[in-house]
Amino acid sequence: MRIAVLGLGSVGYGLLSSIVDKHPNLTITGVADSKSAGINPDGIDITSLLAQKKETGICGDPSLTARDVVTHAPYDLLVEVTPTDAGTGEPAYGYIKEALSRGAHVVTSNKGPVALYYNELHELAQKNNVSFRYEATVAGAIPILHVMQHDLLGNTITALYGVLNGTCNYILTRMAEEGLTYTQALAEARELGYAEADPTYDVKGIDAGIKLVILANTIFQKNITLNDVSITGIDLLTDDALRLAEHQDCTIRLIGEIVPGTDLFRISPRIIPKNHPLVVKGTLNAITISTDMAGDLTFIGKGAGSIETASAILGDILYISQGKCMD
Ligand SMILES: NC(=O)c1ccc[n+]([C@@H]2O[C@H](COP(=O)([O-])OP(=O)(O)OC[C@H]3O[C@@H](n4cnc5c(N)ncnc54)[C@H](OP(=O)(O)O)[C@@H]3O)[C@@H](O)[C@H]2O)c1
Repeated sequence: MRIAVLGLGSVGYGLLSSIVDKHPNLTITGVADSKSAGINPDGIDITSLLAQKKETGICGDPSLTARDVVTHAPYDLLVEVTPTDAGTGEPAYGYIKEALSRGAHVVTSNKGPVALYYNELHELAQKNNVSFRYEATVAGAIPILHVMQHDLLGNTITALYGVLNGTCNYILTRMAEEGLTYTQALAEARELGYAEADPTYDVKGIDAGIKLVILANTIFQKNITLNDVSITGIDLLTDDALRLAEHQDCTIRLIGEIVPGTDLFRISPRIIPKNHPLVVKGTLNAITISTDMAGDLTFIGKGAGSIETASAILGDILYISQGKCMD
């Protein structure tokens, strides 16, 4: 399988490192970052490429671009791991459309194009008889989409509840356990690199809302946008609220909720008993799926991280390369 990779930041670098270590049979024929690109139909030496990226900050020839890779490199599968633009989905949306139109499979960790254009991209993939997979867009290393699309196919899913944002979960954990104020906990999260310099998307619940849109549209066949999700973030939460919850042996978590068959799509801080399976600590994510046959299933794991996200991407790549799917 010949693979082109767009984006060599945290996720792209982690992915290529794990391909070198564990799956050297995968051939990388194209790579690109924001300032350069490389194409080699016989396969790029990934170890040298990673060293070059580390030393110089660029992965290839500055006269080439990601678009050159998408349109000129020979590849069977495009991995799209450039930054998310939740407003336009670009540049990923354009890259993904082009690759699917050329008859290549696409795997992405980029929430923007999936949340905004899933139906169009899914139809384009079907029309060209290729796969479009995006496991890494929701809950990082937790293979939640695959479980619902394949392993639970015989079940009816009656509800889904999830802790979908590690930054918020870290802040809430620290407020509850150390008595920190929201501002103190956010400052700590920033220092540790868990929160962006501008944490708006995370703390206002927008990032979790985008993940809920992806789940609703791709798993529950809805056709919703972020405007259909009722969103309350954690930015206005007081330490008093957490203390009050503590008195009832409860705590607060930012919970995403989908109840199929209703129009309930909600992200909000919820008071839940401390022994509830969704009360995970630190930057962990957790998702509980209620089903008619299997009962309640809870999945807990890392929602972000270079290698953890690469795990989900690699799972999609290998699933496709083994010829197991065209969905
Ligand atoms: N990090 C995580 O844990 C995680 C988890 C789940 C999902 N995601 C998603 O995965 C994607 C990648 O995340 P990341 O953390 O790896 O981001 P990142 O560290 O910011 O890396 C982004 C990469 O994309 C490159 N890039 C930027 N604009 C580009 C363009 N127009 N064309 C081609 N390449 C371009 C950057 O180039 P330079 O190297 O030249 O700057 C960089 O290599 C994002 O959509 C993110 O939301 C990340």
